[in-house]
Amino acid sequence: MSLVYIRNAAQLITMAGPNEKPRTGAAMSELGVIENGGLVLDGERIAFVGSDAEAASFVERSEGGHEVTVIDATGRTVAPGLVDPHTHVVFAGSRESELDMRLHGATYMQIMNAGGGIHYSTERMREASEEQLVRETEKRLDRFLAHGVTTIEAKSGYGLRLEDELKQLRAARALNERHPVELVSTFMGAHAVPREYKTDPDAYVRLVVEEMIPAVAREGLAEYCDVFCEEGVFTPEQSRAVLEAGKQWGLKPKIHADEIVPYGGAELAAEVGAVSAEHLLRASGEGIRAMAAKGVIAVLLPGTAFFLMTKPADARAMIEAGVPVALSTDRNPGSSPTESLPFVMNLACLTMGMTPSEVLTACTINAAHAIGRADRIGSLEPGKQADVVIFDAPNYLYLQYHYAVNLVETVIKQGKPVIVSGRRTDR
Ligand code: NIG
Ligand code: FE
Repeated sequence: MSLVYIRNAAQLITMAGPNEKPRTGAAMSELGVIENGGLVLDGERIAFVGSDAEAASFVERSEGGHEVTVIDATGRTVAPGLVDPHTHVVFAGSRESELDMRLHGATYMQIMNAGGGIHYSTERMREASEEQLVRETEKRLDRFLAHGVTTIEAKSGYGLRLEDELKQLRAARALNERHPVELVSTFMGAHAVPREYKTDPDAYVRLVVEEMIPAVAREGLAEYCDVFCEEGVFTPEQSRAVLEAGKQWGLKPKIHADEIVPYGGAELAAEVGAVSAEHLLRASGEGIRAMAAKGVIAVLLPGTAFFLMTKPADARAMIEAGVPVALSTDRNPGSSPTESLPFVMNLACLTMGMTPSEVLTACTINAAHAIGRADRIGSLEPGKQADVVIFDAPNYLYLQYHYAVNLVETVIKQGKPVIVSGRRTDR
């Protein structure tokens, strides 16, 4: 037995349960903070969580000649490894010229409709080999890890034809096997209507429903199915068809909803029983109430609103309506090119009025629920996976106050220290 003992944390953010359901309302502010806390990891699992004095005696009792690695967390804040439940991280190339175009007055949708945006990334994806995708994406995963993120969701949706969608998902699977950051895959063939189907989008929807979804499901390449339900992309009717087909093949529904204009996406999420609806910048009051009634998680992406220079989602209205809220970077080459989930947390406070405790819930246990992993990650409780982040911060409020810098000092993934003093140690 080899133990890791994280001693004397100024604050240990446990997110202790009940955690059967994602948290809503006032429960989003309950972090289960232990002052002067101690955490003991036994291999890949958490063995003990409590006061430092109790943790010290737990270690003493179980030591018996076994190796103990001690990490001193004096003056530090210790939290569950951060979880990012919405990314498009597997892609090739970059799109910095679009920022310049937007600063000269073009909109995100104009750029996409003129053949740029997602279409540009589709060209790069189709040219790239699986090895190239793995190589490029690995650097992004390194940055996620350095920012305290230990699990992410990763969507396909830049291939937009069967072989390239499979290539993108296989790259995610290969990365999951070789990188400390764990990836949970979502099939998003309905991310855009590819240019070759421009005059017949319904034919593309048929391709997604009849060929892509069955092929992805047969190869076990994804757990979720997502669709970009947006004016000028996929209608609510087309989106429903995609998500229902996904359900038939065992892919749980997620939806990009009401990002640019109100389009009934939140309502559709409730109707199809989606696990989560994402973006929601322009979600209607009725849509929000329907999500609350069905327990659909709102995955909010204030970094995307910031980068597209637009008003973010109404997080306060959602929390007040009883919708469970999670946060994510939306890491992608167009609307949100960042791996800094901690900065997105800052933006959630500063641009959406979420409180420091709500954002921690949104990036740990609620994010874990949004990717079906709340039984394993998202809180520091005995028996759970030993995914831990240590911030150079005396308390959790400080994380939102000392903003836009990386305060992550140590990251432990499945019991293994992978970042120590801000540097990778496992290679
Ligand atoms: O979530 N909205 C659609 N998809 C992505 C952006 C993809 C891209 O621009 O490459 C998003 O913002
Ligand atoms: Fe997205």
